[in-house]
Amino acid sequence: MARAWSLKARPQGMPKHTDFAMIDLDQSTLGAGEVRIANRWLSVDPYMRGRMNDVKSYVPPFALGEAMQGGAVGEVVESNDDGIKVGDMVLHMAGWRDEAVVSAAQVQKLPPLDVPPQAFLGQLGMPGMTGYFGLLQVAEAKAGDTVFVSAAAGAVGSTVVQVAKAKGMTVIGSAGGAEKCAWVKSLGADAVIDYKSDVPVVKALGEAAPKGIDVYFDNVGGEHLDAALAHANMHARFAVCGMIDVYNSGAATQLKYLARLIGNRVQIRGFIVSDYMNRAEEFYKDMGGMLAAGTLKRQETVHEGLETMPDAFLGLFSGGNTGKMLVKV
Ligand SMILES: NC(=O)c1ccc[n+]([C@@H]2O[C@H](COP(=O)([O-])OP(=O)(O)OC[C@H]3O[C@@H](n4cnc5c(N)ncnc54)[C@H](OP(=O)(O)O)[C@@H]3O)[C@@H](O)[C@H]2O)c1
Repeated sequence: MARAWSLKARPQGMPKHTDFAMIDLDQSTLGAGEVRIANRWLSVDPYMRGRMNDVKSYVPPFALGEAMQGGAVGEVVESNDDGIKVGDMVLHMAGWRDEAVVSAAQVQKLPPLDVPPQAFLGQLGMPGMTGYFGLLQVAEAKAGDTVFVSAAAGAVGSTVVQVAKAKGMTVIGSAGGAEKCAWVKSLGADAVIDYKSDVPVVKALGEAAPKGIDVYFDNVGGEHLDAALAHANMHARFAVCGMIDVYNSGAATQLKYLARLIGNRVQIRGFIVSDYMNRAEEFYKDMGGMLAAGTLKRQETVHEGLETMPDAFLGLFSGGNTGKMLVKV
């Protein structure tokens, strides 16, 4: 019998362990065109918090009492499809469980890049693509720009730092705590801001970018977004990727410097990574090249065992990860 995590109750504020429950999945028979996958790596991502609310969004909410979904990489152990063989390593969305039975049409064989399979849940996967296209397409960042990125020690943020440096930009990253800041610096960031220190982000950013910023890659919202507005140059571009600061509180963001976007013609654009899924080949080619050249560093924070899935997920909101947060089954 396969096991999966389900949502028992819709969290109010920060989710609690009691909001989750393990359930058994009876999937003994394999239908036509289906494959059985032994999941090896499971992804936890901040967007999953939004799926715990019963609201209309770009992805449907998790159904109470049913197996949750999320990115996963696993090995095919049984196949009723001619295109997928036993032993193939595949990427799919039936995560939060140890074994998945899905239609072969819903799985993707891992691209032939020289990286461990779990990289396709991080730097070479959805978060990496988010950073890559968010920076280069949404914010239209180019060589010579000064880029500010929040949550810079996370999966998306650490990709933004490294791609920006590889493309000739000046990068300021913010992260929580000295250790994470040191890691962001080691990725090549020109300056780092410890937003948990006593110095307000708006002051620290003014010191780190005395000539202002051309691009802000927002993963956090709140105080970070306001600081970016305060220091935005003429025609600055903001790629609004996430606002983790308000995912649990739902608090209204106070933006003292919002009016600066008028005089400085600042462009603020939200985006969802799926807008760029049809450009995956381009992403793998460019990122694959940077990996082969040793330009990119990859880091993961790994929790061991399906039981630890809620711990890993909750850790995203308390800074428990450096690089990509993963669960190894
Ligand atoms: N638009 C899209 O298509 C898309 C796709 C993927 C991800 N996203 C968004 O991108 C952002 C980053 O996602 P990720 O997967 O790369 O996660 P991540 O950055 O690897 O993990 C979350 C990190 O956010 C930081 N954080 C948590 N609460 C915070 C707060 N209140 N203020 C400041 N920082 C906080 C923590 O780092 P510290 O220790 O530094 O605080 C934590 O490690 C999220 O907002 C996510 O929703 C959007």
